[in-house]
Amino acid sequence: MSRLQGKTAVVTGGGTGIGLGAAKRFVEEGAFVYLFGRRQEALDAAVAQLGSSARAVRGSVTDPADLDRLYDAVKAERGGLDILFANAGTGSFAALGEITPEHYDQTFDVNVKGVVFTVQKALPLMGKGASIILTGSTTGVMGTPQFSIYSATKAAVRNLARSWAMDLRGTGIRVNVLSPGPTRTELALEVVGEEAMESLGGTTPIGRVGDPAETGAVAAFLASSDSSFMTGGEVFVDGGFAQV
Ligand SMILES: NC(=O)c1ccc[n+]([C@@H]2O[C@H](COP(=O)([O-])OP(=O)(O)OC[C@H]3O[C@@H](n4cnc5c(N)ncnc54)[C@H](OP(=O)(O)O)[C@@H]3O)[C@@H](O)[C@H]2O)c1
Repeated sequence: MSRLQGKTAVVTGGGTGIGLGAAKRFVEEGAFVYLFGRRQEALDAAVAQLGSSARAVRGSVTDPADLDRLYDAVKAERGGLDILFANAGTGSFAALGEITPEHYDQTFDVNVKGVVFTVQKALPLMGKGASIILTGSTTGVMGTPQFSIYSATKAAVRNLARSWAMDLRGTGIRVNVLSPGPTRTELALEVVGEEAMESLGGTTPIGRVGDPAETGAVAAFLASSDSSFMTGGEVFVDGGFAQV
């Protein structure tokens, strides 16, 4: 398929996991992709996999100057932006009673403030037909022990898309949330661990964990005009985890 032929995409957290899975699919479908993240080695390895249709910009979504550098590069090299996958995220466990201000700030800074300014700073480059995709999570609609702060950030992301769909009325820019369930990535393995991850996957109706290629396929759908009548919505790619 070449639904994204000639399009320009930015994927935050594009060096690994769900972001890289989407970036691969975007490139396969014809897009040029900017990968944004903090670790140069991860970005370099991803660009080596993706080839000449990918370029890395190193930075943090929590630093406005880094986001300005990213979008300055996109503007200078490509002129505009068609697809923004605001996907970078972080999470760790802290039960009620053990939540520290640092845990709260760090999680909300990356997952909410980072998403807000990743999107707002991209807007001047985007126009009719552009698509913004935010990474939510099944945790945004579920209770998860020791994971309240992360889960609250993802519930916040869900509402950003609802409200921004209204703010974007008349612009031709769509915004939707892609909410993964348990998916095999660095973050998931680090936070949950291999064994718990497998057993979590076993509890989904499909009976396994997801693969970043599967979220990538849905990201490409949301990025393309195949989803032209969708905005303000949420698509779960969760093996049915939060659906039953
Ligand atoms: N895997 C799952 O089961 C699952 C389920 C639901 C939702 N999600 C969500 O999916 C998204 C991607 O996570 P993942 O599972 O694919 O894990 P991952 O492979 O660890 O991806 C997270 C990415 O975000 C980047 N990142 C983190 N903090 C950043 C910052 N301040 N600025 C720029 N980039 C930053 C990381 O790169 P650097 O460290 O190099 O910056 C990394 O590439 C997250 O939003 C996560 O909450 C994951």
